[in-house]
Amino acid sequence: MLYGRIVGWGKAVPDNILTNFDLEKLVDTSDEWIFTRSGIRERRIAPEGVNTSTLSVEASQAALEKAGLIAADLDLIIVATSSPDHLLPAVSSEIQYQLGANCGAFTLVAGCTGFAYALVTAQQFIATGAYRTILVIGAEVISRNIDWTDRNTCVLFGDGAGAVIVQACEEPTGVLSFELGSDGEGAPHLMIPLGIANPPTREALDKKYQYIHMNGREVFKFATRTLARSAAETIGRSGLSIHDIDLMIPHQANARIIELAARQLGLPMEKVFVNIDKYGNTSAASIPIALTEAIEEGRVKEGDKLVLVGFGAGLTWASAVVQFGLAEKPVATGWLATPTRTVKAAQNKIGVAARTAGMRASLMLVPLYTRVSRKQRKEANSNNQQPK
Ligand code: UT7
Repeated sequence: MLYGRIVGWGKAVPDNILTNFDLEKLVDTSDEWIFTRSGIRERRIAPEGVNTSTLSVEASQAALEKAGLIAADLDLIIVATSSPDHLLPAVSSEIQYQLGANCGAFTLVAGCTGFAYALVTAQQFIATGAYRTILVIGAEVISRNIDWTDRNTCVLFGDGAGAVIVQACEEPTGVLSFELGSDGEGAPHLMIPLGIANPPTREALDKKYQYIHMNGREVFKFATRTLARSAAETIGRSGLSIHDIDLMIPHQANARIIELAARQLGLPMEKVFVNIDKYGNTSAASIPIALTEAIEEGRVKEGDKLVLVGFGAGLTWASAVVQFGLAEKPVATGWLATPTRTVKAAQNKIGVAARTAGMRASLMLVPLYTRVSRKQRKEANSNNQQPK
């Protein structure tokens, strides 16, 4: 059995900050209402020209750099999003092209739960031995699907992307257990109605079908029923207990939902990562952004056991117990005890250098080819023939 070790992580958020005070000028709301009901202070909004692929590529490049890898090393790219650049092609192919990767890529839609679904999916490809290095992205420019006159939704969401790289490893690490769930009966509670069933007619646009329609209260009830139960189920499946969990990284939809889940689980808030105040609900991007920040802030250490848990449109939910890292066995002992990863990173650097040198060498040959073709043209002209 092979496991998917997390070897790289990265995030990207737009520079443009929209505060609760800015929203007070747009709709009938207040900083006090938004913060006490959701825990949000501000969120990032992508400007025109910055799309889901843009943020995904930035987050992925950071993750690749952290892993000491290059895009050419990827065997597969899985993107979780509900706000792709276009309906067709899949944004995963646009990201694969922009990264310069040469591998399969697909997009997975499970609302805000998407990243957890994608990470679990990546683990399956690794466990079967099909692929060794997989890039998993959660990314959204969900602000384009927001009705900025609807105070029920516009105060909650934000844009961003997070990415991790999972690599095959023989040590038990990465996803240790998981639960994936779906209850389509709740679909009307959170949807963007525009689509094949509701094409973009004048009537559909007048009904604002292109925007998020949400019954916040119903989604809230669903989340409070589901989050702690799913996390507890998955922790049980891993053979661990709640006391073994070092950090819970929940989907950042509402601080009250998170606090309630922690209380239900008996997990102190010091063991729960919350950054919703800075980014709002970034849907499928929220867990990988939070995971990246938790690692960067030193809240996650080598060998730590995390529980990731998400919920969202569908209605869907997913949780996974994930062990972070665990250094691979060294390639040798004593003074040669260099970790394999360092060796691999150095090999990759050599690979990049070799490829760059190869490219430079072939570029240097261009004038030679030109000279040859000029010579051929001259001869052809003198013989009154077309050059070959
Ligand atoms: O990723 C999954 C996506 N969605 C979610 O996770 C959302 C889950 N739901 C929630 O987070 C919460 O339900 C909300 C934050 C959306 C709302 O909080 P709530 O405590 O459930 O408020 P409510 O919907 O019960 O509304 C309370 C009042 C209503 O007024 P009335 O009917 O009591 O007079 C709303 O009209 O607050 C009003 N309200 C607002 N007031 C000021 C709703 N939105 C706003 C607003 N500013 N932005």
